[in-house]
Amino acid sequence: MEKNEGKILIFGGTGYIGRYMVKASIKLGHPTYVFSRPNSNKIEKINELQSMGAIIVKGKIDEHDKLVSLLREVDVVISALPYPQVFDQLKILEAIKIAGNIKRFLPSDFGVEEDRVSVLPPFEAFLEKKKKVRRAIEAANIPYTFVSANCCGAYFVNYLLQPSEQKEEITVYGTGEAKAVLNYEDDVGIFTIKVATDPRTCNRVVIYRPAANIISQNELISMWEKKKGKTFNKVHVSEEEMVTLSETLPYPQNIPISIMHSIFIKGVTTNFDLGENEIEASALYPDLNLTTIDELLDIFLHDPPKPASQHSNKFSRKPSVIAHDLIRNGNDGAMIGQEFMCFMLSLCNDYIHNVNIKNQYHQALVTGRTCASHGRKQDSKNGSRAENQM
Ligand SMILES: NC(=O)c1ccc[n+]([C@@H]2O[C@H](COP(=O)([O-])OP(=O)(O)OC[C@H]3O[C@@H](n4cnc5c(N)ncnc54)[C@H](OP(=O)(O)O)[C@@H]3O)[C@@H](O)[C@H]2O)c1
Repeated sequence: MEKNEGKILIFGGTGYIGRYMVKASIKLGHPTYVFSRPNSNKIEKINELQSMGAIIVKGKIDEHDKLVSLLREVDVVISALPYPQVFDQLKILEAIKIAGNIKRFLPSDFGVEEDRVSVLPPFEAFLEKKKKVRRAIEAANIPYTFVSANCCGAYFVNYLLQPSEQKEEITVYGTGEAKAVLNYEDDVGIFTIKVATDPRTCNRVVIYRPAANIISQNELISMWEKKKGKTFNKVHVSEEEMVTLSETLPYPQNIPISIMHSIFIKGVTTNFDLGENEIEASALYPDLNLTTIDELLDIFLHDPPKPASQHSNKFSRKPSVIAHDLIRNGNDGAMIGQEFMCFMLSLCNDYIHNVNIKNQYHQALVTGRTCASHGRKQDSKNGSRAENQM
């Protein structure tokens, strides 16, 4: 293990992306602190990170004085808080200003490069909030690095190929030709710790776009078919249908479909050249042995990473059941970032594949009536085209 003096504090370190950063920070030899809520239900994750050497600090983000004291003990702050907590980061920023010693702050971006992309309105509204946090950090003159991690590899392979479902069909968004960047989560963790402590990345935007990790859906499916030794049926969802869904689905179900449109139809993770203030991460660390997409698929073949939904303690229920509870009781805050996003992605899949469930969700959302359980896919009535390539 390397030894690094710089102390790193990670908010959201028990979460889907955060824990890769915690592991990387420990691996790279940094004293690593994880800020976790007193009522966190991530007991197993906390124990695991603690046994690896992480220092768990229990607290609430609005405990300002406590936050300031903690910040004075560390050098670098990384936020991997979930999307609903995006503005809570302003509380961290306020504490950083008072503490006065933080050498670098990385806010919870870690997706598409929000200052460069042009996306459908529901996703734009989502990114707009993250941009406000960036602008507040710049205005506060806090040393920062803004990170665009693009697509987390295992997260998106799980969603696109659904390897754990043993399905005979794969959904293709649009023609399947747009290129996207898929970075394995372990590498996202290592890149993030490296850029957080690298003088070359101070007050810069770093984009994780290694050439070897750029791939189209068609190429990804073809690679997977070769590894599995079988051909899947391709179910295409047209761009037109995705745009219509983004315009007609209620908030926040309109967000995931807009994200898929941006990445897999418009190609927003690859369709712009880097500007003067932007740095490509793999160019900074040419000696890092990154996981290629081919290797990532081998991992899925032999020891498949769990879908993000299964990392959540509560997302063991069917989306239809959760939808029912949500409609009856509202989201009382019990369903948080990762779980909420997974739930929405599942709904998005249901909408695309199943006219029956689509009608039931609409009815439930509009009238507050119950949702029935999943039915089977129908492909033609909602504009999807099943393409049997066997
Ligand atoms: N590029 C991609 O493919 C990709 C994929 C997923 C996420 N992301 C981005 O990565 C970032 C982190 O998302 P994530 O999905 O990893 O987060 P997450 O797993 O949903 O949550 C991270 C942690 O935040 C803490 N947390 C949850 N609710 C909170 C609340 N109300 N107040 C304070 N803390 C709370 C929890 O830690 P404790 O319980 O220990 O307090 C949780 O483990 C986001 O910016 C997201 O947009 C990107």
